[in-house]
Amino acid sequence: MKAGIFISGTGTNMEALVKAHREGELEGVSEISFVFSNKRNAPGVEKAEAAGIKTIVIPKIKEESVEDYEIRIFDAIKNYNTGIIVLAGFMRILSPVFLRLYPGQIINIHPSLLPAFKGVDAQKQAYDYGVKLSGCSVHFVDESLDGGPVILQKAVLRQDDDTLESFRNSILKEEHSLLVEAVSIVATGAYEIQNRFVSIKRRK
Ligand code: GRF
Repeated sequence: MKAGIFISGTGTNMEALVKAHREGELEGVSEISFVFSNKRNAPGVEKAEAAGIKTIVIPKIKEESVEDYEIRIFDAIKNYNTGIIVLAGFMRILSPVFLRLYPGQIINIHPSLLPAFKGVDAQKQAYDYGVKLSGCSVHFVDESLDGGPVILQKAVLRQDDDTLESFRNSILKEEHSLLVEAVSIVATGAYEIQNRFVSIKRRK
């Protein structure tokens, strides 16, 4: 199936997906059709262009409603017929209007072990709380904030000498491989969901 990636920032998770796809390691994904950004100056946009991926940038206009904005996004991406949309550092909450257009097809990477530390700057929330263990989660996106069924999680220990920056970087490093694995699982249909639990089927 074809994949689209939504970003707002530096785009290192997007780069990990592009690299994995080039190396034949993104199972079930025939093409990364586009990288969408809501931020014109997101560094990830230039990176995607440099990698030869089609980029689509549509910032929200202040006066328009979220729903109207999302319909503009949909109009720009619908012809790519993507089977999966990956939110990779996309810093907006999608409304039910958009979610209904891609039922069960939108996944997100979040830098904590959900359900702990939902919302923005999860690494700082975890660091400031003083947890010994945090990590990252990839989950299906539903109408709740960072609350859809978890596909994969990876734990990361906070070391005694970790600064917020080094802690953030240790998590980010794990995010890249976790996201590649989760996209492969979803794109190959190698999962089942029962009572929120996503069980992973063997793919090889
Ligand atoms: C990642 O930590 C991601 O989990 C969070 O935002 C960050 C984006 O990083 N949602 P990048 O743009 O992929 O480099």
